[in-house]
Amino acid sequence: MPEPILEVSGLVKHYPLTQGILFKKQVGAVGAVDGVDFALGRGETLGIVGESGCGKSTVAKMLVSLERPTAGAIRYKGEDITRLSGRALKAVRRNIQMVFQDPYTSLNPRMTVGDIIGEPYEIHPEAAPKGDRRRRVQELLDVVGLNPEYINRYPHQFSGGQRQRIGIARGLALRPEIIVADEPVSALDVSVQAQVVNLLDRLQSEFDLSYLFIAHDLSIVRHISDRVAVMYLGRIVETGTEAEIYDHPTHPYTQALLSAVPVPDPEARGHRERIILSGDVPSPTNVPSGCRFRTRCWKADERCAVDVPVLAVPEVFRHTTGPAAHASACHFATEWATGPAV
Ligand SMILES: Nc1ncnc2c1ncn2[C@@H]1O[C@H](COP(=O)(O)OP(=O)(O)OP(=O)(O)O)[C@@H](O)[C@H]1O
Ligand SMILES: [Mg+2]
Repeated sequence: MPEPILEVSGLVKHYPLTQGILFKKQVGAVGAVDGVDFALGRGETLGIVGESGCGKSTVAKMLVSLERPTAGAIRYKGEDITRLSGRALKAVRRNIQMVFQDPYTSLNPRMTVGDIIGEPYEIHPEAAPKGDRRRRVQELLDVVGLNPEYINRYPHQFSGGQRQRIGIARGLALRPEIIVADEPVSALDVSVQAQVVNLLDRLQSEFDLSYLFIAHDLSIVRHISDRVAVMYLGRIVETGTEAEIYDHPTHPYTQALLSAVPVPDPEARGHRERIILSGDVPSPTNVPSGCRFRTRCWKADERCAVDVPVLAVPEVFRHTTGPAAHASACHFATEWATGPAV
């Protein structure tokens, strides 16, 4: 793994659960993110996958300082940005930008494309002298594959894919080092998704960007990611390189997710069986004891109800260590790792 540009440790976000209107009383907490660790290497793409509600967007929002963590550290080039405020925080925020999921609602319909892409310069006027901004916006339009002459048009005059290009151009305006893309293609037609993913790929090498790429779609994540983290109910349950996760998953949840991906060629599917998980994802207000996946796991035994499995490198993988190692939060990880490929 290249030198880390972002290191996240023990990240927690609990939203208070309140009752009453006049006298709000806290009756519990939603553990949206419940102890997440990962590192993002310079120039690499870390994909985050997991079912709806597992905390992906909450992680994203904390990284770009839209939400304040309940606990934990987010180190950008070694400095914990959760402790920063005011001018120091603003300086860091310039370097970590977000691309949002829905290009239909995330662009202000009353603003021209030029104003939308140039908006970051209003917040960070030091980034570009006023007289330079229009030219920069035109350059950004060109960089994302849109005609610079469209600068005075409005969002409704563009297709979904083009709108997401506008969102990407805005994300690039301050020349950030890190882009957090939260489901950037999920709202787009399948035919357009690949074009936007390819654009992100090209921009990454052109501008030396590091990506955190969040998505539901496992095949898109595989295509774009160097490493992948699989989340379940507020935690990372498995992390590794794209090949490790997709070809040798060692967590039963990852195995189940992958078994649901259609494989066009039955030969390539091999003996991979479709794993149907029982029950629903438990509520983050009431997380099962021990392993939080155990209520849906076909392998779980008494130990799983008591011991919380930590994200660790199985014995047989110990030749790889550090934040880039193939790690799994399952008591049976070593067994999975040595057994036949799933
Ligand atoms: N502001 C909030 N107040 C209370 N609970 C919240 C808030 N935001 C998110 N949650 C809860 O936190 C959990 C994680 O939400 P989050 O949006 O991070 O999930 P996600 O993985 O991004 O899901 P999706 O794939 O649907 O986008 C969910 O149970 C959600 O209901
Ligand atoms: Mg989300």
